[in-house]
Amino acid sequence: MNITIFGSGYVGLVQAAIFADVGHRVICMDVDADRVERLRDAEVPFFEPGLSALIQSGMDNQLLSFTTDTKAAVQASDYLFICVGTPSKSDGSADLTYVMQVASSIARYMTSRKVVVTKSTVPVGTTDQVLAHIKQALHDQGRDIPIETASNPEFLKEGSAVKDCQSPDRIVIGTRSPKVLEEMRRMYRAFNRNHEKIMPMDPPSAEMTKYASNAMLATKISFMNEMANIAEAVGADIEDVRRGMGADPRIGYQFIYPGCGYGGSCFPKDVRALKFLAGQFGHRAEILTAVHDTNQRQKNKLAERVMARFGSDLSQRTIAVWGLSFKPNTDDMREAPSRYVLEGIWSYGGKVRAYDPQAMAACREIYGERGDLVLTEHKEEALEGADALVICTEWKAFWSPDFEQVKSALKQPVIFDGRNLYNPAHMEELGIEYYGIGRGLSLDAAA
Ligand code: UDX
Repeated sequence: MNITIFGSGYVGLVQAAIFADVGHRVICMDVDADRVERLRDAEVPFFEPGLSALIQSGMDNQLLSFTTDTKAAVQASDYLFICVGTPSKSDGSADLTYVMQVASSIARYMTSRKVVVTKSTVPVGTTDQVLAHIKQALHDQGRDIPIETASNPEFLKEGSAVKDCQSPDRIVIGTRSPKVLEEMRRMYRAFNRNHEKIMPMDPPSAEMTKYASNAMLATKISFMNEMANIAEAVGADIEDVRRGMGADPRIGYQFIYPGCGYGGSCFPKDVRALKFLAGQFGHRAEILTAVHDTNQRQKNKLAERVMARFGSDLSQRTIAVWGLSFKPNTDDMREAPSRYVLEGIWSYGGKVRAYDPQAMAACREIYGERGDLVLTEHKEEALEGADALVICTEWKAFWSPDFEQVKSALKQPVIFDGRNLYNPAHMEELGIEYYGIGRGLSLDAAA
């Protein structure tokens, strides 16, 4: 099949590459000429395991190409996927500017039947809105061309995006057209093996499935962070509690890791957008409000602990930070807990020495050159002369450091661990002052 993908971000690029990998002819369109140029050399603008190789092989097989030419992109394919960004507006609602721009371009350039598929995470009702917008534009131009739509949300996770897309848990297809459903079944044939994964539904239900899934996962995390804070107050160890809870198959082990809060491009944005959407329909989404607020508090926790330990004047202090990305295996710092740590320490006059296996360039881009930030080449170098170590991301490289080296590099052996990587008893044996999340020894009371 011929498929055009609008938007070469995470969702668009991965989807384009895996569609080309199974034999579809895919054009990926982006307005950013520089990005398109680099993609033609298989240069992926972010770190995602396996993606560059897949893009290269798609181009080698002449099944995948990149363009900035909107007209050609619209006219080349019957199926047009909208995978552009839907950033948060200041009121929390999703900004649909880019989505509607693509819809306008489609209406302007289409000369034959098109099926427009929304894959970006969009508020409930957007797919119908896109359809109405295109129909109206065609009507205004006096053109009568068949147009259909589907909502086909993407559930990939950064860091395992290629694998997630190649072996999806479910393929949600929200359309009112039986023909589109049949065609999309064919399109996804290679990914719908072993058991039936296709879930047909109407577009609003498909759109809501995506929001509700992310909101549920974010709720699990905020719930666990609340449990961790209670555990700390009452003298329980949340890591034992977590294992005890997870053994119940109704709860399960996944997404119940307490920590320094969730970040990334999806959870924070989607929780806010769903809350806003509910509000527009007169529903006060109190659980979502609590999930969001709990997360904001959790993200501030590490910096607050540093202050509780060292006092609010950090002008003579340097803090080492391990991990800047919002989670391992990505270079993405959007809404990352590390940003709250860095900015918190700076706001009290402290200096930071930071290391991340992938996100150094992203960090430089966000904060630029500044006297109170040193980005080091190795995790060990970040520790040199620092007063304490803060861990924000659970990269594999941080799980088993040489603790004697950590102790000798730091001015005093203090670790604030936002991901509960280490065993508190082991830390005590080593003489390291250790603060995990929800594991007793709370500094919050002193804060
Ligand atoms: C998420 C959804 O998982 C994915 O299905 C959706 O398509 C996009 O949003 P992603 O943002 O890539 O994916 O990351 P994810 O692995 O879900 O982690 C999100 C955040 O939650 C990270 O900051 C992570 O550290 C945090 N997290 C996750 C926890 O704090 N505890 C957990 O138990 C799990």
